[in-house]
Amino acid sequence: MGALMKKTQFIRDLRDKDSVQSPFLVKFSAIASGKTGKPYMNLILQDKSGEIEARIWENAEQHVGQVIKDSFVFVEGRCQLYQSRRQVVVNRLEILREDAVEPKEYVAESALDPEALYARLLGYVGTMRDPFYKALAEAVLKDDPEIRDRVKRAPAAKSVHHAYKTGLLEHVVSITGILDALSAHYGKYLDRDLLFLGGFFHDIGKIWELSYDRITDYTTEGKLIGHLVMGAELVDRKIRELEAQPGKLPEPKFPEEKKLLVKHVILSHHGLLEYGSPKRPKCLEALIVHMVDDMDSKVNAIRMFIQHDQTPGRWTALNRSYERFFFKPDWAFESSSSESSE
Ligand SMILES: [Fe+2]
Ligand SMILES: [Fe+2]
Repeated sequence: MGALMKKTQFIRDLRDKDSVQSPFLVKFSAIASGKTGKPYMNLILQDKSGEIEARIWENAEQHVGQVIKDSFVFVEGRCQLYQSRRQVVVNRLEILREDAVEPKEYVAESALDPEALYARLLGYVGTMRDPFYKALAEAVLKDDPEIRDRVKRAPAAKSVHHAYKTGLLEHVVSITGILDALSAHYGKYLDRDLLFLGGFFHDIGKIWELSYDRITDYTTEGKLIGHLVMGAELVDRKIRELEAQPGKLPEPKFPEEKKLLVKHVILSHHGLLEYGSPKRPKCLEALIVHMVDDMDSKVNAIRMFIQHDQTPGRWTALNRSYERFFFKPDWAFESSSSESSE
């Protein structure tokens, strides 16, 4: 085995006119043709600090089938601004062997420690009072090694929010903390345990909806079924397993209404039919889980956007999903020590 190729140049630091000489992971590649009909290659390169577009203008055909998603490449070229976005123009590109790189350098991860986050999650489970809801939370989060392992690694999305390793767990723990505060605030009008199950399970289907060994993408199950229904199916399966094991529940049967409520909170968490929920929220807990989920994902998405913005001055570049410019507070100019990709 050869020596590991050192990664010293990171995408976050690339500026206009910088020369580029570094290994990257290919997130996306496609062949396109210019006005003259000459083919060129569009790439998105990534490392743990971010992603950047790249173009191969010369002899693009030779790379078809080789420079593909999830492959490691060494790129020589130049960073330049194109329509005020950074882009690497590739002069030379070489496919790298899997064992020539340290994969950790290429995948962004949460700034928070997955083990510590998981301990906090189990801490919340430990405070639950309803024996059925608690048994269900334990069956999923405590007693299933595959789920534990996946929850510690999964991102929450391909690109929208918490789109990095352990992003899902970060999102779930953040939401559960907010739900805890809201249940104290509204008192008897909310079932804290049901809120918690909503926090824990609303996106749990994502651990199978997405693949995330390197590049995050949708799985076939994710594309055909989706994380809302997959989460509801998991609840059904775990309740059946609990009922089949004597002594796991206070009564042989899990109460039907409780089961329906948990599934409802999961299925309605996108809030609207056009956002993929088969039902709109029809109890307070479902409504609150939906609103807190929406808030937490937006706070993360906008924070990451501000943090990664390269525009000089107090205002970011145009954010296309929110159709506005964001003001950059002082923390946006601090060194990257608090960044999620560190
Ligand atoms: Fe979701
Ligand atoms: Fe979510």
